[in-house]
Amino acid sequence: MSTSVSAGAVFDFTGYVAARLRLVQDGLERYTPHASVPPASLHEAMRYSLFCGGKRIRPLLCIASAEAVGGSAEAILPTACALEMVHTFSLIHDDLPAIDDDDFRRGAPTAHKKFGEAMAILAGDALHTLAFGTITRYQSGDPALLLRVVSLIADASGTMGMVGGQVDDIFYEGKAVDAATLRNIHERKTGALLHAAILSGAWLAGAGVAQEKALREYGEHIGLAFQIVDDILDVTGDDAKLGKQTGSDQKNEKATYPRVFGLEDSFRLAREASEAALSALSPLDHRAEPLRAFARYIVEREM
Ligand code: IPE
Ligand code: IPE
Ligand code: MG
Ligand code: MG
Ligand code: MG
Repeated sequence: MSTSVSAGAVFDFTGYVAARLRLVQDGLERYTPHASVPPASLHEAMRYSLFCGGKRIRPLLCIASAEAVGGSAEAILPTACALEMVHTFSLIHDDLPAIDDDDFRRGAPTAHKKFGEAMAILAGDALHTLAFGTITRYQSGDPALLLRVVSLIADASGTMGMVGGQVDDIFYEGKAVDAATLRNIHERKTGALLHAAILSGAWLAGAGVAQEKALREYGEHIGLAFQIVDDILDVTGDDAKLGKQTGSDQKNEKATYPRVFGLEDSFRLAREASEAALSALSPLDHRAEPLRAFARYIVEREM
């Protein structure tokens, strides 16, 4: 990898991200069936949502976490890409009329707008299973470790994680929500998969006990910060930059940080979570610089 992080040097975050993004794009390209392969309409829909944009934060965090403890991006690429597949599935379903009913995603019409609801549901289903197939088929490592990784990502995506969080996200539409419940929804619907990205990278790279503890803590704070900022951007963001329509949460009367705390306190809570994530990394050396940069980026981002 051309842009490894060296001790004492000024860290080039843009160059770092660009190099890893290329790897992730290549991996997703390789692990996803081509649109000409039958069932072509399904593969076309899956590829549409996967490749029309996206920041790739989950695979990038997985890679950065592995690198922070001495691993390499190449060695964990199947798992990094699998996380993006799960995430893309969650976005396709999140946008459906029955959930958030949104028309734009990643700068383009949502999957159901482009291909119809049935194909969007099925493309999401197929991306979900492709994720696990990608790990079991392409990820190298000790089989017991791979089972733990699969189990981690399954739990983070399932009833205790993303899907469970989405259930409460819907349940609390239009209802009063207290701060602890709101935080818990955000930690599950968004935080859990981000946390799994960081922890899977750490595990696959052979993190030691103290390193794993630091990365777990970092992952918890970063996951919450990410969704608080997502809520803020739904109010203050620019549709063109975000690639999705703002005002979705207000339209659906969602339980969000701006609704419960107001914008100013939401910003403060996001910044506090980011600072807590940075503090958690203090036991790690210069190789955690990309993770530190991600913690700052997550609260400063405009998309
Ligand atoms: C949006 O995620 C949905 C959440 C879970 C907050 P991202 O902001 O990572 O969306 P993409 O992948 O860049 O499109
Ligand atoms: C999404 O939360 C959480 C998911 C599990 C997809 P949002 O509904 O706020 O995400 P956006 O704003 O539509 O991207
Ligand atoms: Mg939603
Ligand atoms: Mg949504
Ligand atoms: Mg949102």
